[in-house]
Amino acid sequence: MKIVFATNNAHKLAEINDILGDGFEIVSLNDIGCHEDIPETGATLEENARQKTAFVAGKYHHDCFADDTGLEVEALNGEPGVHSARYAEGTDHDSEANMEKLLRKLGNNNNRKARFRTVISLILNGEEHQFEGRVDGTIAFERQGSEGFGYDPVFVPDGYDKSFAELGEEMKNRISHRARAVAKLAEFLKSR
Ligand code: IMP
Repeated sequence: MKIVFATNNAHKLAEINDILGDGFEIVSLNDIGCHEDIPETGATLEENARQKTAFVAGKYHHDCFADDTGLEVEALNGEPGVHSARYAEGTDHDSEANMEKLLRKLGNNNNRKARFRTVISLILNGEEHQFEGRVDGTIAFERQGSEGFGYDPVFVPDGYDKSFAELGEEMKNRISHRARAVAKLAEFLKSR
């Protein structure tokens, strides 16, 4: 089964190919000649993920899936959420600036509850299906660790006393929001 993953992130592609194994060919946007910036203007992770798959399915007529992830902090009414990549004004994927803004806004607030949420939209034979993965945790008072990316140094998953950036890739990939969403997608695809 050939499916487009609406990304050019080599790491994400390798991860999903690894999980799905033989019988599936997962290709990137580059592989189908899609070099456009796909709009991501939705108000929710669900809308953004669907925008990407609707764009690819509508224009390139391929089965496809797309993911969208956000960090949702309870004391900040779910911020940065859908704005996670560009939380600090005037920046784009600037993790240092994003974490600085998050820690500043939380200040000494004792409610540090947060969760990462990944939503995957899949369009298969013209029908959309969504899968969600989440991991609950808390926001540390300062950055801890240097592995990973994004908000990893400030996110401590429940049940651990280390941040994602301290736990390392292997452990993170066993429990992360993305791993959980991808596992649901894989289970669904394998059942078809
Ligand atoms: P995307 O939807 O995968 O592009 O993620 C959007 C933004 O959420 C990224 O730019 C990161 O700031 C943040 N993010 C997503 N996944 C993770 C993660 O696993 N750890 C830390 N930050 C993440």
